[in-house]
Amino acid sequence: MTARLNLDGQEIKPLRICMIGAGGFIGSHLCEKLMETTKHSVLAIDVCGVKIQHLLALGQPWSDRIEFYKINIKSDTRLEGLIKVSDLVINLAAICTPADYNTRPLDTIYSNFVDALPVVQQCRDNGKRLIHFSTCEIYGKTIGSFLPRDHPLKADPAFSVLKEDETACIYGSIHKQRWSYACAKQLIERLIFGEGAENGMKFTIVRPFNWIGPRMDFIPGIDGPSDSIPRVLACFSNSLMKGEPLKLVDGGKSQRTFIYIKDAIEAVQKIIENPARANGHIFNVGNPHNEVTIQELAELMTDLYCKISGTARPEVVTVDVPSKEFYGVGYDDSDKRIPEMTQVRKQLEWEPKTSMYDLMEHTLKYQYSTYAEAVKKAMSKSTYK
Ligand SMILES: NC(=O)c1ccc[n+]([C@@H]2O[C@H](COP(=O)([O-])OP(=O)(O)OC[C@H]3O[C@@H](n4cnc5c(N)ncnc54)[C@H](O)[C@@H]3O)[C@@H](O)[C@H]2O)c1
Repeated sequence: MTARLNLDGQEIKPLRICMIGAGGFIGSHLCEKLMETTKHSVLAIDVCGVKIQHLLALGQPWSDRIEFYKINIKSDTRLEGLIKVSDLVINLAAICTPADYNTRPLDTIYSNFVDALPVVQQCRDNGKRLIHFSTCEIYGKTIGSFLPRDHPLKADPAFSVLKEDETACIYGSIHKQRWSYACAKQLIERLIFGEGAENGMKFTIVRPFNWIGPRMDFIPGIDGPSDSIPRVLACFSNSLMKGEPLKLVDGGKSQRTFIYIKDAIEAVQKIIENPARANGHIFNVGNPHNEVTIQELAELMTDLYCKISGTARPEVVTVDVPSKEFYGVGYDDSDKRIPEMTQVRKQLEWEPKTSMYDLMEHTLKYQYSTYAEAVKKAMSKSTYK
């Protein structure tokens, strides 16, 4: 491999990266990218390594560059030793499924703030650079959502486009426990930012805006608990494979922007390899061109699923469900999330490429080939719900 250069024309030296949460959706794609296209090595930490099994198999060209550590960062003293021997720490570990925020607020807050705190402190104490994964949920509700329904300013981007260094974070009351996740993520962001300002810690904060792709979450009762609710992609995929209407929470009117995981991982790679451009920054990483309502997402997924599986479009595609029934008491939502892109464009010369149609087609092909047979088999057994 010829020497790879960063955005400033400097040779990229191999790094040893301590990646916490490496066995999750984003971690698995990031490990894959680093193994296939770079010489960096990864100390992969997670409570579960199933999604990176294919990378850990013996005899791969990168086998000497990836090691898996089954560690729960809540309680394992090996963590600091692994941070000490690394050049860079990336923390992806979190409870990050909306169904948990109002039903397991304590676990959510502990996971996203308390468990992340020692990682920050150990990076500070050992002089390590940290890339921390936050969320677009940090913005909460838009200012535009407080305007009357038909107010002309609702269409003004100033009232809805989310800017890293300007937009206020607006959450619901404490009774709306949905905001436990956003609030914990906000506090750890503030702490990291403070460590940078007061103690000179080198950091980058990433705010993902709905990254989507293969290996996201699980299908309930197939490779995850039957009574758990995954994020929207797996929820809708599950209903499609079962031939059931897709459940639209409160009518599916919320708007979201989706980005293909492989586009987003390119931004993360640039952050890793361009520290001089990324340190001290908070980056929105999303695709503002791929905005849809959740209802439109359901329609698109149904059309694509029928094309991929060769089945006829069902007469009833969606069914409305009140959020209280679907998520329980204390649920709330943000209306709209469009990332402002100036920071990533300017610092990292990065743009997302994949359209909504293409990213969903790639993803549903994966969902269909991985799960459809297992769902069919499980449905033939009477106990499967
Ligand atoms: N996927 C997205 O679109 C998205 C959006 C916003 C924010 N994020 C953030 O990005 C990060 C990664 O998200 P993801 O989609 O890959 O989630 P994920 O749930 O697939 O991955 C998280 C991983 O962290 C691991 N983990 C959790 N607690 C741990 C602990 N105590 N010790 C060791 N490992 C632990 C889990 O086992 C899991 O493999 C999270 O911090 C999340 O909040 C993701």
